[in-house]
Amino acid sequence: MQHQYGTIVATLSRYYNAYPSVADLMEPARRRIPFFAWEYLDSGTGAERLPAHNLQRLQEVEMVPQFMGGASNINLETRLMGETYAMPIAIGPIGMTGMIWPGGEHILARTAARQNIPYCLSTVACEAPESVGPLCEGKGWFQLYVPADQKICADMMQRAWDSGFRTLMVTADVPVPSTRERQRKAGLKMPLEVDYKTLLRVAARPTWALATLRYGKPRLRMLEKYAESGDLKEVSSFLGRQLSEVLNLDYMKFIREQWKGKLVVKGILHEEDAKSLVKIGVDGIVISNHGGRQFDGAPAAIDVLPAISKAVNKKCAVLYDSGIRTGLDVLRALALGADFVLLGRAFIYGIAALGEEGGDHVAGLLKEDMANNLKQLGVQGLDELPGCLSQKPNSNYPG
Ligand SMILES: Cc1cc2nc3c(=O)[nH]c(=O)nc-3n(C[C@H](O)[C@H](O)[C@H](O)COP(=O)(O)O)c2cc1C
Repeated sequence: MQHQYGTIVATLSRYYNAYPSVADLMEPARRRIPFFAWEYLDSGTGAERLPAHNLQRLQEVEMVPQFMGGASNINLETRLMGETYAMPIAIGPIGMTGMIWPGGEHILARTAARQNIPYCLSTVACEAPESVGPLCEGKGWFQLYVPADQKICADMMQRAWDSGFRTLMVTADVPVPSTRERQRKAGLKMPLEVDYKTLLRVAARPTWALATLRYGKPRLRMLEKYAESGDLKEVSSFLGRQLSEVLNLDYMKFIREQWKGKLVVKGILHEEDAKSLVKIGVDGIVISNHGGRQFDGAPAAIDVLPAISKAVNKKCAVLYDSGIRTGLDVLRALALGADFVLLGRAFIYGIAALGEEGGDHVAGLLKEDMANNLKQLGVQGLDELPGCLSQKPNSNYPG
């Protein structure tokens, strides 16, 4: 399928009035995808206190504008781990993106290439690194859930490298799968069970159903090679056997020795973890509570960012995610010590609502909101943001 950038730009201008914020994309997304896919995308774990808490605590971060410095000449370009990106945001890893919107991984890879921002492909994506890597045009990062078998791990890393991924992001905060009560109630299983209820839910979403017919039933293509057969039931049982309670510092040292590119660890909430990772030579960490999907008793990720950023003391890059929905949220995270920000659900709301142009629309909204709010603040560049905070960051947490 050819996607001309000119056509996309023309379509995008229409969306600015119809969907002027990421929040405006949620309801159209919910209405376009089946109930089980929405519940998978939107849910947290347990009582679901944390997803809302992430958003709330971000909104409470205040910055004070100054007006006497005159016009500001805003440049959002950001250098991170030796690369220059158009702005300080990346599309974060989302498992089974292609189940939420058919071909979603390919769409987001193209978005990243067009926007000059990174796209991080998940281990449990519907598309394999071999088909996604080339579409990223050098902007691809690969997210790794480490398997118990280190030979499989080495093979996964080699496949990611051979597909053009040069940044590896190891996710630390999924020691075991979490309970996702809404997901369970919605009957989400891999492979999708073709029962009466599922069929009714799919029939109620004809655009999704047709797109799925075109792309084929969702599969976990990266992992098929390692299951006894390519059958999805086998792949799911591989996930259960291999991907639980495996990661520790020794395993991270093994990965550091094997991986020649940039290495980032995602899901860090404690200062001591951050310090140990710096010692073994990681290039970056992501402060994140997985968007509130793993442990509902965790602090809002934004609350631990300042202390961890201080502890790391520029010895590696500090990335942030969890709860980012606007350009202003990105600026808040940068003000509190992040070098770069990832967004999870926001880009997926975009493609679920709008398909091919959805990722570009979200990127455009964030860019506009960042540029506008930097001018509201009266700063000349992103590095001036910490000086705008209205009060000292919360440091009640150990990290
Ligand atoms: C539906 C869904 C699937 C996810 N899958 C993965 C994954 O496969 N690997 C991973 O490291 N993080 C995964 N995450 C976590 C995101 O990468 C990110 O940390 C989180 O979404 C950030 O919060 P936000 O959605 O509020 O931006 C997933 C999140 C969601 C919502």
